[in-house]
Amino acid sequence: MKRDFVTIDDLSDSALASLMDLADRIRSNLRGHAADLPGYLMGSLFLEPSTRTRLSFEASMLRLGGRVITSSDPDTSSSVKGETLADTIRIVDSYVDVTVLRHPCAGAARLAARLARGPVINAGDGSHEHPSQTLCDLYTLRSERGPIAAQTVVLYGDLRYGRTVHSLARALVRFGARVLAIADGGLSLPEFVVDDLAGRPGCGIREVRINDMEDVFRRRGVEALLIAPEVTLPPAVGAAPLELNLRDQKVHAIYVTRLQKERLRGEAHGTSLPILDHRFLRSPTFSDSIVLHPLPRVGEIARELDTDPRAAYFRQAALGVPIRMALLLWCCGMVDLGAKAAPPARLEACTGGACANLGCITVKEEPGFAEVGRDSDGRLRCLFCEERVSEPSGS
Ligand code: NCD
Repeated sequence: MKRDFVTIDDLSDSALASLMDLADRIRSNLRGHAADLPGYLMGSLFLEPSTRTRLSFEASMLRLGGRVITSSDPDTSSSVKGETLADTIRIVDSYVDVTVLRHPCAGAARLAARLARGPVINAGDGSHEHPSQTLCDLYTLRSERGPIAAQTVVLYGDLRYGRTVHSLARALVRFGARVLAIADGGLSLPEFVVDDLAGRPGCGIREVRINDMEDVFRRRGVEALLIAPEVTLPPAVGAAPLELNLRDQKVHAIYVTRLQKERLRGEAHGTSLPILDHRFLRSPTFSDSIVLHPLPRVGEIARELDTDPRAAYFRQAALGVPIRMALLLWCCGMVDLGAKAAPPARLEACTGGACANLGCITVKEEPGFAEVGRDSDGRLRCLFCEERVSEPSGS
């Protein structure tokens, strides 16, 4: 079976741990792997802007002794002439051994993986997922703070359109970490992520009211969700928010995201969340918290933090190379990560209904591929973008 990496759930917990162990070994001798993938060719097909993700994948392949071809400017690719992803991917796949795809539509990587003969890696599909960034995030958390299960991680910023947190929240929950998701109203985690998290074993979700740090968390419109094993199920619809004092919490990491301006569909959004600076981090809650960001930052983290030892975002970006080297070795069939067992599929395929999400690849480009499935609560969802689909009339 070919080894695609479309979602973070394509790798089991033990496989993720083995991948990080492999990245540790690679990192201790970064220049010693030039004969690991000789003769292999990677295609990087980036139909959206990227610096870190594309360059770290390319650096990874080159460090493994493979080679790379790139299409990194959407304006000079045939997509501007109207070529569909399905056609482009068939061609690129026929040239290379592994394809890394970034695309503005949700579900694009799943569609590509269906059509490609070789493995496909999702390097970001619209505002849906970004699982290789999650590898880098988990690897940083583990390298800097130890076992992930023991950690409390604050997700902070645009959690609705920021795809990195959609993959990260699922991974953190799988490992049993506690997640505190803080966002402006309207920019909280989207329904497809919250519902999926709520359906995962041992995970409860409750709205919380943070009682201290008034200047930061009691601003109008700021919403907070606690996603944690100790929150009792069911999620208590309409229940009063849990009261939480941050000073009683030990926060291991704050993961900051930028407002994804390019994805706002005509909505006017500013942010009322304060930027992260020394003043923000002066509370004892954060005395030991590392600060993460998938980057680019555009003002959410003050530059004054760059020299603070808690600022881990540049170290996090650097870890993107060894962990992506490990991922490429797995995708190309060079390593086994132990038991195959992937976590159970999020959606069980069924018939009926059609996606209406304008950001979904099956709506924007490839209606012929539309497929739906049922989630653990029996709701109909698009198999590509995971958005809710209405039940067909008469059913
Ligand atoms: C992120 C992305 O593209 O989703 N960047 C990245 O891959 N490191 C985050 C972002 O663009 O804000």
